[in-house]
Amino acid sequence: MSTTLIRNGRLVTASDDYRADILVEGDKIKLIGANLSMQTDRVIDATGKYVIPGGIDCHTHMDLPVGSVSSSDDFETGTIAAAHGGTTTIIDFATQARDGSMHAALDAWLAKAQGRAVIDYGMHMIVTNLPDELLPEMDALVREGVTSFKMFTAYPDRLLLDDGTIFKAMQRAGENGGFVMMHAENGSVIDYLAQKFVDAGKTTPNYHPLSRPHQTEADAAQRVILLSELAGVPVYIVHVSSHLAMEAIRAARDRGLPTFGETCPQYLWLAYEDYADGSFAGAKFVCSPPIRERANQEPLWRALASDDLQTVATDHCPFCFHEGYKGLPKQKELGRDNFKKIPNGVPGVENRMHLVYQGGVVQRGWSMNRFVQVTSTAAAKLFGLFPRKGALAIGSDADIVLWDPHRPYTIRAATHFMRVFYNPYEGVTVDGSPLLVMARGRVIFENDQFLGRKGQGEYLKRGTYAW
Ligand code: URP
Ligand code: ZN
Ligand code: ZN
Repeated sequence: MSTTLIRNGRLVTASDDYRADILVEGDKIKLIGANLSMQTDRVIDATGKYVIPGGIDCHTHMDLPVGSVSSSDDFETGTIAAAHGGTTTIIDFATQARDGSMHAALDAWLAKAQGRAVIDYGMHMIVTNLPDELLPEMDALVREGVTSFKMFTAYPDRLLLDDGTIFKAMQRAGENGGFVMMHAENGSVIDYLAQKFVDAGKTTPNYHPLSRPHQTEADAAQRVILLSELAGVPVYIVHVSSHLAMEAIRAARDRGLPTFGETCPQYLWLAYEDYADGSFAGAKFVCSPPIRERANQEPLWRALASDDLQTVATDHCPFCFHEGYKGLPKQKELGRDNFKKIPNGVPGVENRMHLVYQGGVVQRGWSMNRFVQVTSTAAAKLFGLFPRKGALAIGSDADIVLWDPHRPYTIRAATHFMRVFYNPYEGVTVDGSPLLVMARGRVIFENDQFLGRKGQGEYLKRGTYAW
């Protein structure tokens, strides 16, 4: 078994901040203590670095089919990119076919990941149909480690479930310990508005956000929160983009409900004003819910600081912008004549930790503990991975990042690892970045060099929700 000693670092978890050494044996943290001096295969000097648990991105879409195309990162390229930015676990989504079983979907998504992922991965299940005979599948999946179910109030043609079915699934999850994740947007109002724009010849990308106003997100968030209260089950609202939806979550939490919210770097860093001119370059920023006005960013940052929102995940779902670029099929270009046809999603898995560090710790004075909480520990707890992940503790997986606060990094598509040829954060310089990333005891990135091996990531059977 290989051994590594990480010496002289400043260990930061969601709750602690102290100087100590870590002994890694095989894939686990074996010992934490002061002045450890045993013989090991490697000694890493972490002087001047934060030593933090690897990040957890609990919302990614690698190799996701959307219409005629698939998101451009697969589990290999996407997890290499994640690791470069300090993320050592992702949780992706298997999507049930409307006429299919959830187990078949899980098998299909595991086949995409196995042999490719370089970091560990779990799976959520997207429920698209729930006749009574499929209810026992939900129980079986929870027992098998797929403990969270995502449902949609948007995309009526592909993914939306009616309120009765959402409620049925919530009740079942309440009985079997499952956790409910909701994509909260009012799909039928959005479809009506979008078609109205198209009929009026308003087809450029800036009409995408205009067809998805704040109220359509907040209305759906409010509705699913009330349904979850009625069903007696915790609910996690994914990719909260609007301050109005966040306020619905805050109000529920103030009433004592187990309601949780996630936001994403694109809602914290990007602004509608930057693509409001209608140019087709705006297609790069088309995702759902949409990127809001600049004034909407600060309430989301504040909500993360005050725990009205709990996590930052990416909803990483990249599509190439240029037609046929480097042999890849037409992707964002599909919507050149109609914003409704632009594949929804933005890249981000590589830069999540960079952007939360810069925006949270550097610009807004967050503690490093809060940074670890929102980028790692909160997701580990909510999605049944704690303390194996999201912690620096004896027996935890040795997913460890040496975060150098004095290692500036400029985000550029030319040098990023994501398989997409633009970066929404092009040119942003962050003050600190990962110097070294260890995944289950192996150094897989050092000085921006990938040292890992395709397929070394393992599937994570997750436990049930805890907080
Ligand atoms: O635009 C987005 N977010 N695409 C990914 C699918 C989803 O709804 O999360
Ligand atoms: Zn979604
Ligand atoms: Zn998503």
